[in-house]
Amino acid sequence: MEECAPKPIKDTGLRNVVIASTKISNVIGDQGKLIYRGYSIGDLAEFAAFEEVVHLLLYEKLPSKSELPDFKTRLTKEREIPPAVIDAMRTRPASSLPMDILQAAVPMLANHDPDVETDAPDAVERMGLRLTAKLATVLAAWQRIKEGKAVLDPLDDLDHAANFLYMFFGEKPSQEAVRFFDACLVMHAEHSFNASTFAARGVASTRAHIYAAVAGAIGSLSGALHGGANTRVMKMLMEIGDVKNVSSYVTRQLDSGGKIMGLGHAVYDTDDPRALILAPMSRQMGEKVGEPHWYEISRELEIQAKAAFKERKGKEIFANVDFYSASLYHAMGFPMEIFTPIFAISRVAGWVAHVLEEQFGGAADKPMLYRPESEYVGDYCGPEECSWEPIEKR
Ligand SMILES: CC(C)(COP(=O)(O)OP(=O)(O)OC[C@H]1O[C@@H](n2cnc3c(N)ncnc32)[C@H](O)[C@@H]1OP(=O)(O)O)[C@@H](O)C(=O)NCCC(=O)NCCS
Repeated sequence: MEECAPKPIKDTGLRNVVIASTKISNVIGDQGKLIYRGYSIGDLAEFAAFEEVVHLLLYEKLPSKSELPDFKTRLTKEREIPPAVIDAMRTRPASSLPMDILQAAVPMLANHDPDVETDAPDAVERMGLRLTAKLATVLAAWQRIKEGKAVLDPLDDLDHAANFLYMFFGEKPSQEAVRFFDACLVMHAEHSFNASTFAARGVASTRAHIYAAVAGAIGSLSGALHGGANTRVMKMLMEIGDVKNVSSYVTRQLDSGGKIMGLGHAVYDTDDPRALILAPMSRQMGEKVGEPHWYEISRELEIQAKAAFKERKGKEIFANVDFYSASLYHAMGFPMEIFTPIFAISRVAGWVAHVLEEQFGGAADKPMLYRPESEYVGDYCGPEECSWEPIEKR
């Protein structure tokens, strides 16, 4: 019989490996489609409020006309954060990374949650709603503390997006700002098994509590190749500084093997539908605040980088969600280090939906602890394991 050669294991980054089924969302990479529980992201960004999307993700359906006010009230009542959490934030250096502050606040919120030791579905759902409501308050409070300003209490008469803008900037926002920001929250809320959601599901699969899962997800989102890209897009736009510098930037970056932030995606090999919606929003907001050049640089960069990439690699590259959200957030007045935390205060809704699905079924027949295999390519001492050497002999 022919001897089988050992099968080489490739470091795949799990690309194209289906590890679980889900009813929450679908990313159809080759068609540029993103679907939350059957609804296209285009319709949701245009018509749905963030609260409706949270309801859709958690309860598998849009709220009815009568359910929506009650659901909004439930979220509104959960917005406040314990004074002890605010006091703890005050002890942090102003130079702290806001993603670290957000991540560190999550277990502190767990310390104050009466449900934290309960693993029944209704308790996990309550904790998930609390996290979704409170993370925005944590982020706004941190910004106020960092700027030496008074932390503002949430306002019950404002919806989630408007209330965050109020708590963050200290004044009631314009209707246009609310509409744009709400659409951003909707578009960032969910994206199937991306790295941070996978992290949340991996933690949740051990039956750790939802706060542990969300804290892990925030850490994952902070990375430059994931949510951290939007801040780096803005840094890159500032480095470029002017449309006339785009060409030399693209050449320099590709010549040195560097990446152009905000381009490329692990799943989409055509336009990311969110980038198509965000681009005109960035242009509009940039014009409104008298800073149209950030959009113009982005647009020129997208065109030139796509052409150069095609020429060098023989394949297409497309703008992802982070590319135009950077210039949009900048035009809205957000400091760039806040871009990724904004992503987190929206994506928390998706993480919560995935934790619920992971722990209580959904599409899966029986939720299982994640435990992949790896191939050991390290050493032995000859054909057997190494023999132990006492410290004096080493
Ligand atoms: C998101 C990302 C990690 C997807 O990666 P991927 O599909 O696994 O693709 P790879 O990283 O394997 O890249 C494939 C090739 O395209 C190149 N490439 C991918 N994205 C690139 C970018 N933004 N700029 C320049 N080159 C890029 C890689 O260098 C690689 O080249 P090689 O084949 O010569 O080694 C990648 O596109 C990236 O790093 N983008 C920039 C960061 C970013 O915007 N992240 C946010 C994602 S929503």
